[in-house]
Amino acid sequence: MATVRLEHITKKFGETTAVDDISLTVNDGEFVVLLGPSGCGKTTTLRIVSGLEVQSEGHVYIGDRVVDNVEPKDRNVAMVFQSYALYPHLKIYDNIAFGLKARHVPRAEIIKKVNETAKMLQIHQLLDRKPAALSGGQRQRVALARALVRDPEVFLLDEPLSNLDAKLRAATRIEIKNLHLRLRKTMVYVTHDQVEAMTLADKIAVINQGKLLQFASPMEVFMKPAHRFVGDFVGYPSMNMLGGELEETAAGTFFFTPAIRMKASGAQAGKYILGIRPEDIVVSKSSSKGSLECTVRGLERTGSDNYLFLDYSEGGIVASVTGPDYSAGEKVYVTFDPANAHFFDAVTGAAVPLSASI
Ligand SMILES: Nc1ncnc2c1ncn2[C@@H]1O[C@H](COP(=O)(O)OP(=O)(O)O)[C@@H](O)[C@H]1O
Ligand SMILES: [Mg+2]
Repeated sequence: MATVRLEHITKKFGETTAVDDISLTVNDGEFVVLLGPSGCGKTTTLRIVSGLEVQSEGHVYIGDRVVDNVEPKDRNVAMVFQSYALYPHLKIYDNIAFGLKARHVPRAEIIKKVNETAKMLQIHQLLDRKPAALSGGQRQRVALARALVRDPEVFLLDEPLSNLDAKLRAATRIEIKNLHLRLRKTMVYVTHDQVEAMTLADKIAVINQGKLLQFASPMEVFMKPAHRFVGDFVGYPSMNMLGGELEETAAGTFFFTPAIRMKASGAQAGKYILGIRPEDIVVSKSSSKGSLECTVRGLERTGSDNYLFLDYSEGGIVASVTGPDYSAGEKVYVTFDPANAHFFDAVTGAAVPLSASI
C-alpha cells in the first residue's frame, strides 16, 4: 500500500506542454480518477507516475520515496492500458503469469496466484485459450489479472473500458469498483467519461489543457465546480452558461444578462458567467415575476429523463423536465432558484463566491 504524490509536475514535448504544473496526492488505498477531454494530458500524467515517461519538472513520490530516478520495473506499480497489450501467441495463463516468470517467482506460487486471480475475475475457464478467442471484456479482465497477480502497491489504469460496448462497460465498471473495495489498493484511473469518474472515484482530478482545475470528491465536483470548464464538463446535459455583468446601482448590486436581473453580492463589479444546471431549471406554461420567456425548439427523450431545448432572446437553454407534453414552437416560461446558480469569472473561468437572490 502506498500514497502517490505529484509535486509541480510539468511535461513538455517540444512546444507542447502536455502536463502543466500538476500537484496532487492520492492517499493510501484511494481511488482517484483523472478526468478530462482527449489530449488534456491524462495518459502522460499516468505514464509519469509509472516511470514510462520522465517529467520535465517536478517530483513524483510513491510512499515516502522520491521515484524520479527509479526505473518503471522498480516502482512497484502496475499499469493497465486501453489496448490490453496481451501477447497474442501466449495462452491466457502465460499472459497473466508473464510478469511473475520474468521476476523468477517460484512455479508453485505462480500457479496459485494465477488461478486465484483468474477465479476472482471469472476467467479461470479461459486459461488455456489464446487472446484471439476471447471477447473484449474477457481480454480486459486478463489485462487486469496480469496487473493484479503482481500485487503492486499502486494500480494505474488508462481508459481500461473504452474498447467495450456500453453494456459491458457498465458491468465491468462495477467489477472494478468491487475489486477496489475488496483490495483497497491505491488506484489512479484515467478516463474522459464523466459517468465512469462519478461512479468509480473517491476523488476526481479534473484536467484541461494540462492543468488541474479541481481535485475533490465526485459530489463536490458536481455541486461546487471550481471552474467554468468543470461545470461544463461534468453533468449531462451540460450546465447552461449565460454571460452577464455585475453592476452596482442606486438600488443595490445586481447581476444582469440582457434577459435576467438578480440581486447579487460577494464579488466586485465586472463580467461573470452564470451557470445553471438543466435539472435546476423550472419550466412553466404560464409566466410569473422574473420568468424568462422561451420558445420550445425540441424535446429529447431518453426514457427516464426528458431534455427540453429552448430558445430565448439571448440564445439556448436546456432544461430537464418530467412531462413530455411540449411541442416545438410553443412558448414556455423559465425560472430557477438563485441559490442553485453558479458564477464564474468571465476571463479566468474560476468559480467566484457570488450569491444571488431575486
Ligand atoms: N510522445 C509524445 N510526443 C509528443 N507529444 C505528445 C506525446 N505524448 C503526448 N503528446 C501530446 O501531449 C498532449 C497530451 O497527451 P495525452 O497525455 O496522451 O492526453 P490524454 O491521455 O488526456 O488524451 C497531447 O497534445 C499529445 O499530442
Ligand atoms: Mg490518453
